[in-house]
Order: sequence, then C-alpha cells, then structure tokens
Amino acid sequence: MNKQSVRDVSLTGKRVLMRVDFNVPLRDGVVSNDARIRAALPTLQYLLERGPKALVLLSHLGRPKGRVDPRWSLQPVAGRLQELLGRKLQLHFVADCGGPLTQSALAALPEGGILLLENTRFDPGETSNDPAVARSLASMADIFVNDAFGAAHRAHASTVGVAQLLPSVAGLLMERELDYLATALEAPRRPFVAILGGAKVSDKISVIEALLQKVDRLLIGGGMANTFFRAQGLDLGASLVEEDAVSVAENLLKEHARRIVLPTDAILGNSCSQDADVRCIMLKEAVPPGWAIYDIGPVTLQRFAAELRDARTIVWNGPMGVFELAPFANGSNEVAALLAAATATGATTIIGGGDSAAAVEAAGLAGSVTHISTGGGASLEMLEGRVLPGVEALDNRQSDD
Ligand code: 3PG
Repeated sequence: MNKQSVRDVSLTGKRVLMRVDFNVPLRDGVVSNDARIRAALPTLQYLLERGPKALVLLSHLGRPKGRVDPRWSLQPVAGRLQELLGRKLQLHFVADCGGPLTQSALAALPEGGILLLENTRFDPGETSNDPAVARSLASMADIFVNDAFGAAHRAHASTVGVAQLLPSVAGLLMERELDYLATALEAPRRPFVAILGGAKVSDKISVIEALLQKVDRLLIGGGMANTFFRAQGLDLGASLVEEDAVSVAENLLKEHARRIVLPTDAILGNSCSQDADVRCIMLKEAVPPGWAIYDIGPVTLQRFAAELRDARTIVWNGPMGVFELAPFANGSNEVAALLAAATATGATTIIGGGDSAAAVEAAGLAGSVTHISTGGGASLEMLEGRVLPGVEALDNRQSDD
C-alpha cells in the first residue's frame, strides 16, 4: 500500500479525528451485530497508547437523507462501544456533529479524552461533500485517520473533503482491508478461484468482468446463477431471472466457458419461507411450475470442493442461496466450510462484506478464514479494480510522492 498509515506518523499530543464505519444493524434500538465496532478497536487502542490530546470519532449510520432522525442516532452505538472499551476509558457521546454541542464537549474534554459525534449524515453537506462541512470537521483536529473502509467508496465530507484539508492516514483496519483486497489480489498465489453469489447478476456484471481477467476459475451460485441457466435455455419455473441480463450472461458464457463453473443441481422450494416444501433436482430437468431455485445442491458442492482443492487464493462474495432460511442455508454453510478447510491447508481466503460475511458468521466459521471484509459495496468496488475515493484522498508514503 503506498498510503501512509497511523504507523507512519507521530500522534502524541495531537488532536486526532478518526472516521470509522459504525453503520451497524440495530434491532429495537440496540446494536444487533457489533462486528464493525469491534473491527475498529485495534486502531482505537493503537491511537490511545500513543497519548493523543483528544480523539474524536465520526461515523454515518443508515441513510437519514440529510435530516436529524432519532431512528438513526449513534447513541446506541456509543453504548456498545463504551462496553467494549471497558470502564477505564470514558467515551463521551455528543448529540451533534461539529455544532455547538461538539464545541463545548471539546472545550471540556480532559487530556486524552474520546468523543463520538452524532451521525455525519444528519447534515446534507456530508453526502454532497460540502467544503464548509469539511472545514468544520477539519477545524477540530491536527490529523485525520480514516479507518472506515466500508465507506471509502463514498466521496463524502467525512471521508474525502476532510482528508484534503488535514494530514491524512489510514487506520489499521483500513490498512488490513487494502492489504487483502488490493495487494493480495494484484499478485495472487495461484490457482486463484473466485466464488460469486447473491440474488442479482446485474449488480455484479463489472465484478464478473474484472475477475475473469484475473482468476483461474469463477464459481457462480445464488440467484444470479439463474440468469446464466436461462442463457443456457433451462426451464426455471418460478425462479428469479433477470431477463434484461440474459444476453450479457450468454456472452460471458461464450467467451469464458472454460473458466466459469455453474451449479448442476439445485434445492427448490414451493415458497421462499422457513416451512417451505423442499426438493432437490438436477438442472437438466425442468423446475416444476410454482417451484423456484433457492440454493445450490449437493452435486454442485462436490464440484465446487474439487475446484477449490488446489486453490491458493480464494475470494468469496455473495451467498449461494437464501441462507437466512434454514431449508436453503446448506449451500452457503458448506461453502464457508470449504473455505475454512482451504485456509487450514494454507490458502488465503478473503470474504467480501455484507451477506457473505454474515453467511460465514452464521456458519460459525468467522475465525477460520484469512480475512472477512467489513465493507459491502466498498469490497465489491475493490474487486472491480476501482480506486476508492476515500483511499485516494489519503497521503502517499514519502517515497511515492
Ligand atoms: C455499508 O454499509 O456498506 C457502508 O457503511 C456504506 O453505507 P452506504 O451504502 O449507506 O453508503
């Protein structure tokens, strides 16, 4: 990585502004998955050990459309972060972001104190990258640390605008994400195999095209495989098919037939529900009317296992089926297990954020793969080979200037 990180700069006695991605799911006002909060802890710990004058944390939560909306307050996140930090470190939550409440909290903050400001997206100037908002954020600090990999594909005031006004470096999480999603994929150990799933092929066409330039094999599952089946002329019953994308799928199959591996059997349901009737068919048979494909089948899993056996680098993005429902979770659980086994024999295994990360967690295998990205959209854009604006805005290492 040619970007500076917290390891390259002195932080002692400095006012540090750190952008984190605490965009976590809430249920009844309580954080229901704190993985992104825990992922920021190593950087927080690192900064605090260096004795900063003040540490100010910024994050967005949800998409409140530039208006103050209590449903998207970071207050519950502050509660969870305080629990994780323990009693010795006192976190102060501030109910605005750069406004009068922030100014008085900063004035009252003891040496080395930590603030978490309210949702950056309560101000419309955040997403429009308003220079006035960026200036107000920058005025609070001597240095900017961006650890919000999950938001690095957004050119907002708290990711890009402020980075253009202050010395700006990557946090440890950002550094680790870039190490796996950029450096490791630039020169992957081979064979390099990618597994793509998820509902829609239209969301992933540029990722498929970019990966096909790099991988030795591309395994496809999830609802997106249906569009490829349609291109092969299969009869799919009530399965989701994106008719608009069928010709793209057809061309991809024509050009890359030897590298694309599609499922050969499927788990069908008569409804997409917990108590659906379920059956397994080979895909040369027609899917009966009223039934739809919701997961990959056991024969496909054997084929995928064979394709992964000698792989040295594996990237997985998108579940193999409707993994949130028990009858259709087996494909994603088994793929997670195949990746854990590959990791144990020395392969580098990288999981894109969002649903595939959730599928690995649901399979209880989060600790058994090399890297789980905290970024959904951001990790997909990295796989497309794009440079993320939030990364671009960070200072280069001296030798690269
Ligand atoms: C994410 O959840 O992928 C990031 O936090 C970015 O959120 P956004 O898609 O609302 O910008």
